[in-house]
Amino acid sequence: MGVRLVRPVLPPWEELAPHLEKIHATGLLTRGPYNEMLEAEAASHMGEGTHVVAVSSCTSGLMLVLKALEIRGEVLMPSFTWTASGLAALWNGCEPMYADVTPGRYTLNPDATRAAITKSTGAVMAVNAYGLYPDMDALAQVCREAGVPLVSDSAQGIGAICQGRPAGSVAPVEVFSMSPSKVVTAAEGGLIATADGDLAAKLRRMRDYGKSADGQDVTAVGLSARLSEFHAAIAWLNMKRVEELRDERFALAARYREHLADLPGVAFQDVPEGDKPSGNYMMLFIGPEARADRAGVVEYLKGRDVDSRPYFYPALHRQAIFADRPGARAASLPVTEAAEAQGLALPFYNGMTDAEQDEVIDALRGALAPPGA
Ligand SMILES: Cc1ncc(COP(=O)(O)O)c(C=O)c1O
Repeated sequence: MGVRLVRPVLPPWEELAPHLEKIHATGLLTRGPYNEMLEAEAASHMGEGTHVVAVSSCTSGLMLVLKALEIRGEVLMPSFTWTASGLAALWNGCEPMYADVTPGRYTLNPDATRAAITKSTGAVMAVNAYGLYPDMDALAQVCREAGVPLVSDSAQGIGAICQGRPAGSVAPVEVFSMSPSKVVTAAEGGLIATADGDLAAKLRRMRDYGKSADGQDVTAVGLSARLSEFHAAIAWLNMKRVEELRDERFALAARYREHLADLPGVAFQDVPEGDKPSGNYMMLFIGPEARADRAGVVEYLKGRDVDSRPYFYPALHRQAIFADRPGARAASLPVTEAAEAQGLALPFYNGMTDAEQDEVIDALRGALAPPGA
């Protein structure tokens, strides 16, 4: 039957259609009530006192956040992330610099971060990897000691819990993606979350070119990064179900782990006690002791019509746009380089049936189980 990597979650058509019809009838396509409803709904899942600003993508949200905070110099981040983390720094005239990730967890390592902070560090950008946050308490401490702002590229983190705190109240400012592969999708879109009301108000103006509060002047270098009302309606309906979507993924992940744990040389992401990932991606790390290397597994799965994808790959410091810059030249990233060589995203989505998952498990066992196992 074949199994694809992701399948976007859309609200049932009967539920969505009346809202799309309403937007169509009113002709209010942007800056409207569905954006406000989405922001209020998201805030209600993201912890007391969190302000949420809807934007056109996580990338535009990251660009705006660095701009609003007037970050200069270097932005320290993991190289083991999606390209947008680094691009947001470049768009702001900042230099992406890299610290290594923690083995097994694959998120920004607080000790490596402390060691990599210099006088030129303008901000630290933590990244939620596959749904799991870094050790945010330790990173916050490192940033406090150094007097450097902490922002989080939480693109993959909607719905996660980090040491008892819901996504959105885990860092002073976080940016989420609502692209099609995310747990909550808008088709395309993003959310910025912060407890700082003034920052939220500034970002609200900056997503709209940088207009003044009365809209009569332009007072900041903003973007045209509003979310359309159609997209906001999709995301608003999906957001109401965020915990349910996360928990379904949690159960699917547990089932993968149960059926693949005995394969020699393979590992899953370590999830610390007190954390619940959003379950955005299901990763398998194929180490040197495995029966096949990652390229061999990808080919084998393809032969069984099962999709898989190396991810995050290549790491930022090896992408052409970043490779010749100071961050890549300075980088010593052994854990990142092992992770990018080993990580494989498996088919994983809400609504995945046992039969579909069994097909993936069976194919993986075909590639990686010892003979007779
Ligand atoms: C870690 C990370 N940052 C940023 C982004 C960019 O998100 P968007 O496509 O909404 O701009 C992604 C998208 O997958 C991501 O995984």
